[in-house]
Amino acid sequence: MEIKNKWMCFGSGFLLMFASHCVRAEAPGAKIPGAETSSVTSASPGSAPPAPATPASSSAPATPAPIGSSPPVETAPAGSSPPIAPAAATPAPAPVPSASGPNVMTSAKPLVSPTVWPELLLPSTPPGNASAGQAKSQVCAACHGPDGNSTVPAWPKIAGQSDLYLVKSLIEYRKGDKGNRFEPSMFAMVQNLSDQDIADLAAYFASQTMSPGTVPASLVSLGEKIYRGGNLATGVPACAACHGAEGEGNNLAKFPRLSGQHPDYTLDQLKKFKAKMRKDDPNGIMQDISQRLSDEEMKAVSSYVSGLH
Ligand code: HEC
Ligand code: HEC
Repeated sequence: MEIKNKWMCFGSGFLLMFASHCVRAEAPGAKIPGAETSSVTSASPGSAPPAPATPASSSAPATPAPIGSSPPVETAPAGSSPPIAPAAATPAPAPVPSASGPNVMTSAKPLVSPTVWPELLLPSTPPGNASAGQAKSQVCAACHGPDGNSTVPAWPKIAGQSDLYLVKSLIEYRKGDKGNRFEPSMFAMVQNLSDQDIADLAAYFASQTMSPGTVPASLVSLGEKIYRGGNLATGVPACAACHGAEGEGNNLAKFPRLSGQHPDYTLDQLKKFKAKMRKDDPNGIMQDISQRLSDEEMKAVSSYVSGLH
């Protein structure tokens, strides 16, 4: 991995998160997903030890890189240098209410502090109950699968997705065409749900495990380059800076999990951000990034994250 993108400069503590990752790459021409997969593991320069899943403060230095020189997200002028600088994290837990259901991502270190990013404090929903959510999830199963692992590429997997991101997304869909993520089929599904229903459903799906996908071997190289290093020439930041070294997302920051997701869905969402049909991303982050991605880069990175784990 070459570190030539400014976005990588979050300090050594942050870089430790990049130490280790794997990709399920399909052999060229493999017909059956998963039948001929290989795991590609790479390590960051400096052979830093892999960061453990425990809060990063235990092994990674807690001192974030100084960020005083980069302006906060809101003031970064579009078109100049990398558009959004996620504030280097203070490891202090953000005062965000978390649902009671188990979540695979709650151990992730928050990258953004709520004082920098006030949206993190909103919305406040009641704590979710995963078993109540399971009982309410039958209607969702038709498309997303009983455990949230949809088998249809156009319907996203929601198993193991970030709890708070699920809550946020469902609330946004519920606003219908007045909201920032209008999609008729999802609007129909959630328009009559209460906040409690939404919290319960999110707790249930977040407690499931997203099934891994694979990436065609021919797309690994470009996908990995964009995911880990971005594209300095066009101002694309490294996706890993927000979505995590393994695409696991960040629950407190509501950065969604990308790892394992259907490539068709991921690509479709990037196109929707680019066309500004989807505009629920704070500060237009994903709209901005998607504008800067070429079609080829979009396709490669969408496939890459599917096999990343
Ligand atoms: C008729 C099929 C269908 C049903 C039933 C359905 N969904 Fe969806 N769901 C979709 C589609 C299609 C999308 C992608 C929409 C878009 O492009 O924004 C989606 C998107 C989502 C997302 C956003 C995922 C992400 O990664 O951003 C969530 C969360 C979600 N659905 C939850 C649910 C829940 C909870 C239920 C049950 C109450 C449900 N869905 C029922 C088709 C369905
Ligand atoms: C500065 C942080 C940041 C960076 C860097 C970033 N993202 Fe995102 N991304 C977000 C946030 C925040 C969201 C959630 C937006 C929302 O709430 O609708 C998101 C959402 C997404 C989604 C929608 C996921 C879903 O389930 O619907 C995709 C796909 C995505 N990002 C891909 C990428 C790719 C590819 C890159 C690198 C080229 C990237 N992101 C870089 C912050 C970031």
